[in-house]
Amino acid sequence: MTHRTLIDGLTLPDIGFGTGGLKGRHGAAVITSALQSGYRLVDSAVRYENEGAVGAAVRASGVPRDEIVVTSKLPGRHHAHDQAVTAIEESVYRTGLDHVDLYLIHWPNPSKDLYVEAWQALIEARERGLVRAIGVSNFLPGHIDRLVAETGVTPVVNQVELHPYFPQAEQRAYDAAHGIVTEAWSPIGRAGDVLTDPVLTRIAAAHGTSVAGVILSWHVRLGVLPLPKASTPERQRANLGAAGVELTDADVAAIATLARPDGRNNDQDPAVYEE
Ligand SMILES: NC(=O)c1ccc[n+]([C@@H]2O[C@H](COP(=O)([O-])OP(=O)(O)OC[C@H]3O[C@@H](n4cnc5c(N)ncnc54)[C@H](OP(=O)(O)O)[C@@H]3O)[C@@H](O)[C@H]2O)c1
Repeated sequence: MTHRTLIDGLTLPDIGFGTGGLKGRHGAAVITSALQSGYRLVDSAVRYENEGAVGAAVRASGVPRDEIVVTSKLPGRHHAHDQAVTAIEESVYRTGLDHVDLYLIHWPNPSKDLYVEAWQALIEARERGLVRAIGVSNFLPGHIDRLVAETGVTPVVNQVELHPYFPQAEQRAYDAAHGIVTEAWSPIGRAGDVLTDPVLTRIAAAHGTSVAGVILSWHVRLGVLPLPKASTPERQRANLGAAGVELTDADVAAIATLARPDGRNNDQDPAVYEE
């Protein structure tokens, strides 16, 4: 994998591992397998109730701690400043690690209007060394503009829903213009209709790979960091290897035609969604 270095000394790989739904002993075993298969970024969240499983997997994997980027996220119910401070401390305790590498605000929850307070708490957690780098998830340009205007601190990452049916061209352009890495959640569309899409099936056949492989290499080609979740070592390895598929310009243009205005999977529009 190639790597990119972010501010705060954090180095991100091309592809990370999604852990939604992976918890307890089984979840820890699946995440351990992902680390042993070569993943070096693990995406977790308070909401997934699996920060403990992630920490256990990090310890069980045999991979040096400083090679792994452990991510977690602050839930909407803890945006108020003092609650956010405690929630971050509890995240670190649950992992059993001495710090979390990347900490994000999970959703802006704009109707509550507390995300700037939450951001201030993340800034302080970084200054205290509890987390190494801070970012956001599901933030629209206006939300990020406000964070920067009110605190002077720009997120290093924005994690958003992104797949061929919802490619987020405007958000990607905004993030790139502000030096923010865009991470993709549900990068293979939760293994829904997109995996049997005729255009993607044709491209996959031409390259002798799977549709999931085409989609993940498309993310990498766009400069997006996808976070596929997969339960078996075979799928984990296949997804990680997908970054090696060389798509042509014509492939990328054909995939661009698949964008749909209503392409979100669960209708979770950050402008109105409340976590
Ligand atoms: N920030 C946010 O608000 C947010 C929201 C949602 C998700 N996320 C993060 O993003 C991660 C990924 O999103 P996601 O889990 O919703 O969706 P996803 O990664 O797009 O899809 C996961 C599904 O694809 C299947 N799969 C994996 N590799 C495959 C392959 N090569 N061929 C066919 N099927 C394959 C998995 O099955 P098996 O598991 O059975 O292998 C699973 O059912 C989450 O785990 C979480 O970390 C963040």
